[in-house]
Amino acid sequence: MRIANLSAEASPFAKTGGLGDIASSLPKALAATGHDVDVWVPFFLEAAEWFRRRGTWPEQEIEPFDVTVMGASHRVSILRSTLPGSTVPVHFVAHDSLFHRPGGLYSRNEHGADDGIWRFSLFVRAALEAMKRMGERPQVLHTHDWHPGLAPMLGAWSSWRDPWFDDVASVLTIHNVGYQGIYGPEQLPVLGLPPETWTGGLVEHGGAINMLKGAIVAADMVTTVSPTYAWEIRTPEGGAGLDGVLRLKASRLTGILNGIDRQEWNPETDPHLPSHYSLEDLRGKLDCRAELCRLANFEPADPAMIVGSVGRLAPQKGYDILLEAAPELIRRGVRIVVLGSGEPALEGSMRLLEAHYPRRFKGFIGYDDALSHKIQAGSDVLAMPSRYEPCGLTQMYALAYGTVPVVRRTGGLADSIIGLHGENLDWATGFHFDDPSPHAFAAEVLHAQNAFFHRDSWSRLMKNGMKADFSWGRSANDYELVYRRAREVRGLPW
Ligand code: ADP
Ligand code: GLC
Repeated sequence: MRIANLSAEASPFAKTGGLGDIASSLPKALAATGHDVDVWVPFFLEAAEWFRRRGTWPEQEIEPFDVTVMGASHRVSILRSTLPGSTVPVHFVAHDSLFHRPGGLYSRNEHGADDGIWRFSLFVRAALEAMKRMGERPQVLHTHDWHPGLAPMLGAWSSWRDPWFDDVASVLTIHNVGYQGIYGPEQLPVLGLPPETWTGGLVEHGGAINMLKGAIVAADMVTTVSPTYAWEIRTPEGGAGLDGVLRLKASRLTGILNGIDRQEWNPETDPHLPSHYSLEDLRGKLDCRAELCRLANFEPADPAMIVGSVGRLAPQKGYDILLEAAPELIRRGVRIVVLGSGEPALEGSMRLLEAHYPRRFKGFIGYDDALSHKIQAGSDVLAMPSRYEPCGLTQMYALAYGTVPVVRRTGGLADSIIGLHGENLDWATGFHFDDPSPHAFAAEVLHAQNAFFHRDSWSRLMKNGMKADFSWGRSANDYELVYRRAREVRGLPW
């Protein structure tokens, strides 16, 4: 099947979180099973820097052309490369003033305004126009999150639809329902959609433009990144205001657990680690632990348990819970190392904790891919106290690295970690807690600490996790079924 993925992020070129990992690992997995898969992303400054650092540059794919948004034309070029470690083509939509912006992928414009609707609409229009010019019509257009949401809307059944879409089915994957792309109604002309898309409730939600809602309504099939999250987003507690829309879509909504890229996350080959290790020979993990201690300014010979965590410092991730529990855990002998950036208040708390407990707490503030691998390998425990978690990848990376996860039982964390409860040591892979409070989190970390000092139990937990298979195999098949169903509901053959 010919599948075109449209995403704001794709690892390793430009990524802020798991969306970037999946937008490259899923296409690679599908291509490996024989599908013809492409990825389309904006050419962000971060991607340009990625190429510059390597002394290479993607090739120009077709002649630059103009895209019209709100009556004004904008010149875009399409650059082409491949996803590292594969032959999957990546097409970059390049437009310097829109995507070459300091301050991160989702930063505001020079006037401080959030012009995301504008940038991503131009991205979608340019990508579709390029596909037409190149004569590459996909059988399935697979869009990720709200940013390319205009694409399924343009292909929705309606009198005004472009006939190019007659043979294109659409699939939307929701990676996080908390981010919806909400803009004032005055922005409607940016989308270039007819007024009935507003009055008919396609793109309107609560008096504003809601890009995710429009994409949900328009897509032939909707998936999200774990079975539990597919259920949670249909409840008022988990739907962030879109639960009603998602309940209406229930027969076309399914949850597929993400897989991980074992080429990138493998302790036997990881180039970021000082020593390699495997299920059969874990000795290298001790070197990784010693190196992490040096980086964190911890005493390497100290046997005290190390709890690591890597993630965006956003309310979703529950870092306030972790940081509030930290003093008590440190008093009980635990050491903690966190890598993250985001909310300034949380960054401030990390600095304070580090000042108070210099050899027991380390907060690395920033985004650092190499360090994230070192933390996964060098820690004993990986903490994820998320308030909600659509899937979560870091707990799966932890399992692969023999690092035992302590997670809140929600979304994909509930689906990927088997909590130890006393009688399941033969197959448990980590620890669960339910209440999103510092107390409940600390109690579970202390439960883990108890197991940590029983070396046989701990080694069993580590090995159970390392044996767990979260590579893409089964989930890639599930996506194939979704693509078929998307074409079926449109009355198209596959
Ligand atoms: P989310 O997508 O909600 O951020 P996931 O667990 O799915 O959460 O994926 C997060 C991804 O981003 C992982 O690959 C993780 O290693 C990476 N990541 C997050 N924050 C950082 C950081 N500060 N430095 C390096 N990598 C990070
Ligand atoms: C989102 C979610 C995360 C998920 C990732 C990839 O950013 O927050 O839970 O793993 O997307 O699907």
